Amino acid sequence: MCVCIFFCKIKLQNVTRLCHTKSLISVNGQFPGPRLVAREGDQVLVKVVNHVPNNVTLHWHGIRQLRSGWADGPAYITQCPIQTGQTYTYNFTITSQRGTLFWHAHISWLRSTLYGPIIIFPKRNDSYPFKKPYKEVPIIFGEWWNVDPEAVISQALQTGAGPNVSDAYTINGLPGPLYNCSSKDTFRLKVKPGKTYLLRLINAALNDELFFSIANHTLTIVEADAVYVKPFNTNVVLITPGQTTNVLLKTKPYFPNANFLMTARPYFTGQGTFDNSTVAGILQYDSPSNHSSNNKIPLFKPTLPPINATGFVANFTRKFRSLATAKFPANVPQTVDKRFFFTVGLGSTPCPKNMTCQGPNGTKFAASVNNVSFALPTTALLQSYFFGQSYGVYTTNFPTNPPFLFNYTGTPPNNTVVSNATSAVVLPFNTTVELVLQETSILGAESHPLHLHGFNFFVVGEGFGNYDPNKDPANFNLVDPVERNTVGVPSGGWVAIRFLADNPGVWLMHCHFDVHTSWGLRMAWIVLDGPLPNQKLLPPPCDLPKC
Ligand code: C2O
Repeated sequence: MCVCIFFCKIKLQNVTRLCHTKSLISVNGQFPGPRLVAREGDQVLVKVVNHVPNNVTLHWHGIRQLRSGWADGPAYITQCPIQTGQTYTYNFTITSQRGTLFWHAHISWLRSTLYGPIIIFPKRNDSYPFKKPYKEVPIIFGEWWNVDPEAVISQALQTGAGPNVSDAYTINGLPGPLYNCSSKDTFRLKVKPGKTYLLRLINAALNDELFFSIANHTLTIVEADAVYVKPFNTNVVLITPGQTTNVLLKTKPYFPNANFLMTARPYFTGQGTFDNSTVAGILQYDSPSNHSSNNKIPLFKPTLPPINATGFVANFTRKFRSLATAKFPANVPQTVDKRFFFTVGLGSTPCPKNMTCQGPNGTKFAASVNNVSFALPTTALLQSYFFGQSYGVYTTNFPTNPPFLFNYTGTPPNNTVVSNATSAVVLPFNTTVELVLQETSILGAESHPLHLHGFNFFVVGEGFGNYDPNKDPANFNLVDPVERNTVGVPSGGWVAIRFLADNPGVWLMHCHFDVHTSWGLRMAWIVLDGPLPNQKLLPPPCDLPKC
């Protein structure tokens, strides 16, 4: 084990894309941010110094943070923000995880520019369960706004309307040749023939699930959310915000001077304004001689599934299975202590008297879990919990079921008004939880990438229509379901997950579409300490920011 130390200076940096230059918030002046590289078992220290006017926090998405919730990062959940001029050192240990994850800001919409890969290598002397790749390449998807994304979300929250969409999708920060004024900002992956590359795909986009494909090449999926899966081949990958997928790319034996496009664009299940544009990068084979120019070479283009290709997506997500071997077992809880049924979806709140609201029927857009739109407190939940000062900060009566049941694929209820609260579910240490997440189709059916902090979970079942507690559990996979930290709840459908609450602390669960999170599609789990000293939440570090 070693101690890895990283320094993150949060500072403004001028960046130009699509012929627009803007000053954006960066880590160390890099966009996207730097890679965090460590090994399974390492202790990681990240010293963050804030040199921008905004409050900042960083989150290590998918890192379990066993007993170290103070380092998790969501603002007002596990910490108060790092204010201008302040410093905070995130201190955590990578326990029994290896693969690709990512880090990002976890306050307002700052993750639009503050994000980067996390690469966790297996322990020394340990190897991948697949052939060692010739090279490894992170491919991180994002979005680019010509304007300041903070202005986009604050305007949307003020008017109650849906926020403006971004101007481009990006691969490693680059929009690529299909956008105006952008061809010089194209990601190029130069490859040699006949080799195997490991592509570490990360969806850091704010508000879109993405299809990704490379022309004329098959990809072999080997890992999801830093857990190995049974390998399978595909031409197209679907990746939701918050998910990471490792794929093997085998290059063709002999293809001098050939260029292939790799493209990504949204899979969309909903209504309203959205951006259907396509980011492209180039897979470029080495040329044995230097005299031919790349421009003359035919460019092969991939075909992505059509918008709303629900069938393709359902088929694709069902192919993910845990390895479930002796070395990498699938520890699926076989019995359940507590069952929960949560509806996730959109809704609205009444327009305040002094405002004109541009949301549905003159209201403000909102989003909720079990009809509760989560309001952020002004202090952090974890501190309040640890010091026994929850009064006036949060309640522990988060509903285990929605206030009323309805036909989720039929006509939505007339009353779509949600309530506002800061409430959590309390779980005794080592509770086994089964949670069904049902999409409501209120104000338009949309899929929701649900992300759980502090845990991986097993996706034991999924389906379209209404979840049926009498029939559906019979088909649950309790043998080799995929283990991950972010799952897409299908539009007009449901997923069932199971996890073991073995990590004491306060853990956020939310939709990884930032617009839905901003509207309140989030809640918190409080997991109590276990009896043994090594089952207790560690005390807070002394440099923990104050609100
Ligand atoms: Cu990737 Cu709560 O976040």
